[in-house]
Order: sequence, then C-alpha cells, then structure tokens
Amino acid sequence: MTSISPVNITKDVPGPSHMPVLGWLPVMLKFAFRPLSTLEELRQKYGNMVRLGFGKYPAVMVFDAEYHRQILRDPNSFYAYDLDLVPVKFPKESSLRSMTTGMPLMNGERHDDHRSALLPYFHKKFITRYHDACVEVTKRKIASWQPGGEVDMRTEMERLAMWIATAPVLGLDPEKEGEAIGMHLERTMKILFNPFALLLPYNIPGFPFHNLMKHAVEMERIVRGVVARKKEEGLNGDDVLSVMIKMHEEDPQRMSENELLGHTTTMFRGGYNPNGMALYWTIFLLSQHPEALKSVMVELDESMGGNEPTPESVEKLPWLEGAIKEAMRLFPAGTWTGRLAMRDFDLDSHHLPKGTWIVMSPYVIHRVPGIFPEPYRFKPERWLSEYHTAYEFMPFSAGPRYCIGTSLGMMQLKITLSIILQRFSFTLKPGTKVNCSGLNSIRPKNGLPMILHERGKKTSPTKFKGNVHEIVQFD
Ligand code: HEM
Repeated sequence: MTSISPVNITKDVPGPSHMPVLGWLPVMLKFAFRPLSTLEELRQKYGNMVRLGFGKYPAVMVFDAEYHRQILRDPNSFYAYDLDLVPVKFPKESSLRSMTTGMPLMNGERHDDHRSALLPYFHKKFITRYHDACVEVTKRKIASWQPGGEVDMRTEMERLAMWIATAPVLGLDPEKEGEAIGMHLERTMKILFNPFALLLPYNIPGFPFHNLMKHAVEMERIVRGVVARKKEEGLNGDDVLSVMIKMHEEDPQRMSENELLGHTTTMFRGGYNPNGMALYWTIFLLSQHPEALKSVMVELDESMGGNEPTPESVEKLPWLEGAIKEAMRLFPAGTWTGRLAMRDFDLDSHHLPKGTWIVMSPYVIHRVPGIFPEPYRFKPERWLSEYHTAYEFMPFSAGPRYCIGTSLGMMQLKITLSIILQRFSFTLKPGTKVNCSGLNSIRPKNGLPMILHERGKKTSPTKFKGNVHEIVQFD
C-alpha cells in the first residue's frame, strides 16, 4: 500500500493567504459554490502557478501547457487519485471500495498492465464493430421525436449515452439493462459528490455516507449479477466486460475480482457520462449558432446525403468534429483534475515536495487567449486551421494515461450527431434560463428544454438568460 506524509509548500509560490481563524475555509467555500469562476480568478490574480494548502494536504494549481506536460507525461512520479492516498478513507473490503477501484483510480505497474491489456479493444480498427449498434440505438431514441414537440435535451442525451456505451462496455441490452445500471450508478455518484458524504465519512444511519455505502452495496449486487449471467451465457461477445472476465478467470492474481467489478463500473460510467454532456452541449451550441450549423449541414449532405453514416463517412467530418471539439473545449467533461507527487520535483524555479497535490484545469487552459483566440466564442472553424497540443486542448487528458476511449467516444459522437442533425433542428424553449452547476463538470441544472423542428425549417436562436453566459459569449 502506498502512503504519503503531510508536507508544506514553500511560500514563494503565490496564492491566497491562510486566514487566522477560518483557515482555508473561505477559499474552499468559494470553490464549492462557484468552482469555475474561482479557478479563473485564481489564475488572473496569482498567475500560472498558485499555492493552496488545505491543512495537511497542500496543493498547487497549474494553468500552463508546459507544466501539464511535465506532470502528465510522467505517471510514475505523479499519481492519479488513488483510494489509499486521498484524505477520506473508504472502508477496506467494502462495496464502496470495490465499486471505485477502477482504472482511473489505479497507479503503477498494475494500472499499466491492465491498461495495456485492454488498449487493443479500443483501437480504431477494433471499435468500428460498434458502429451499427450506435446507429441502431440513436434511431431508437429519436423514433418518438416529432417536429413541434419538446424534449429535455439533457435527459434525452444522458440516457442515449448510456445506451450507446452499453454494447462496447457491457454487451447487454441497452434500454433494459444498460440504462437501469447507469441510473443506479448516477444515484450513487450523486451521493459521492455530496460534500457532506465525504466530510462526514461515518457509516451511521442518517448520515449521507451511510446512504452512499448502501447504494454501493446494491451497485455491487447488480454488477455481480451481470458478471454471473455473462459467464453462464459463455462470454462470446466483443464487449470489454467479456474480455475482462476472461482475464480475471485466466489469472485472478493479475486481475482480482474487486478490480473486475471496479473496472466494470468506472469503465461504463467513463463511457457514457462525458458522451452525454458532449452530445447535449454540441446540440445546444449549434442551435444558437446558425452559421456554424449551416456549415455542418452542408458537410453532412455532401458526405451522407440524408443516409445513415457509414464507418468511412464518419471519418471525414471536419466541421462536425470542430463543433464537437468546441463543445468539449467550452464545457470539458472534467473541469479540473489532479495528480499527487510521489517524489520531490521542480516546476520552473520552484522546488516542490513529495506529497504535493497538483491541480490542472482543462476549463481554464481552454480559455487562455494566447492559446485559443476569442476563447469564449464557439468557433468550430478554428479547428480547420489552428493546431493545439494535447497539453493545451485536454478534454481527454493527456500523456500516457489519456482517455483510453478517445477514438471510441469521438466515433460515437459523430455517428449520433450526424443521424440526429440530419433529421431535426432545434431551438431552446423560449423563457428558459440556462444555469449551470457541478463541482467538476458543467451541467444545465434545470435541464435543457428544446423544441424540435423538421430539418431545414428556418429557425432563429432563442434569447435566453442564465449563468451559461459566463461560460460562452453568445452575441
Ligand atoms: C466524450 C468522450 C470522453 C471524454 C471527454 C473522456 C474524458 C476522459 C478523461 C478527461 C480522462 C482522464 C481523467 C484523468 O486524467 O483524471 C479519461 C480517462 C478514462 N476514460 Fe474517458 N472520456 C470519454 C470517453 C470514454 C469512453 C467511451 C470510455 C470507455 C468506454 C472511456 C474510458 C476511460 C477510462 C477507462 C479512463 C482511465 C484511463 C487510465 O487511467 O489509464 N472514456 N476519460
């Protein structure tokens, strides 16, 4: 087991002061209630490296592509969140622990071994076998949509993303099983992201942590049931879960049962959660930018002419890809991420100790004007001419641990959006306030009600209010 001792960070890194009585509480509260503007303010006030120190757990925030490169390219020196290292301890042998022991939370040789064993199943050549399943569930989802009708785009796309992820990750029925598992997982994650569940980690009835433990037990029961059934059925599928079950059966030392269960939940959630956000934000942004939508539609007409996408036609869609990338730039699935230094290290002229948490923010780096001109504007066309390194544009993170599902996710987004946009156009329901919330992601907290129109019908963007105007400049 890895352990780390509390450390101090030198005062020569600028940052907010520790208040005499309140300590770091004011910064923490500000961050909890307004995470995005707090991140941006910290960079504006203190520069590209900011010292924060939450008691025994000091942190530096870095907002610079070169710093990102130094940290992210060296995963052996800078660990991802690891349950043995975070301040809140999840009880050993608990369902909560096994449900969260997945690849994004592992480190070292074991992580690298599991990752390299699964990597071939995410290779571009391999993933085209999921093309048809993605087309099929997208058509199924929009079959009931009618021009003139209204849908909550957030709910619709979150569900569709669960269906889309089901075939490659679980190999189950998307609507009956994938969605049910995803919904339970989301209820569990909601409690996990309740600050009180983690600030008061007591497994006592009435405490949110107790509720979290109960949800995790149920989650484990569901995942165990799925694994048992897949074994009975003979593990003939191409899905990642079948591959992992075989790996576990062949050598339980190499992949333990807990790791199998944890990989299953984290891989499934990793597969649907960011896809859902990218889908509804791309649709919303295109609905507010008719010129960009027109260019996407010309491209789709030339490439598909109203037909379903093929594996070849989704390969070459620079305008649609530009729109998706802009949605991910403006609304990255993870607005910040962290690594823990496992050794002393130097960043610029600063010598920082082992045990320092390093926080990086795709949200902030994506808004640096020196990197992305007119950063608050939705400009899919920038991707036709601008080049950005993986340490500047990092919705999938970067370095050896970048998202294993990058190609799969991009393929699925292009398939789904090309089907939906060839059938419908959208306008935001008049009177809607688009207010966003989320500690680590950006979601429209009251949904995204949109009116459906037959494709080609002339529509204009809807005027609307809400704090999303702080995230994107619309006029
Ligand atoms: C729009 C689509 C997606 C986005 C934006 C996205 C984003 C990310 C990010 C930012 C990370 C790194 C987190 C960190 O550094 O802390 C990550 C890791 C990961 N993602 Fe994705 N992801 C997407 C799709 C997928 C899909 C489709 C799958 C699988 C079905 C997947 C599975 C994973 C896994 C297993 C990891 C952990 C990799 C490792 O630790 O080595 N993701 N993803």
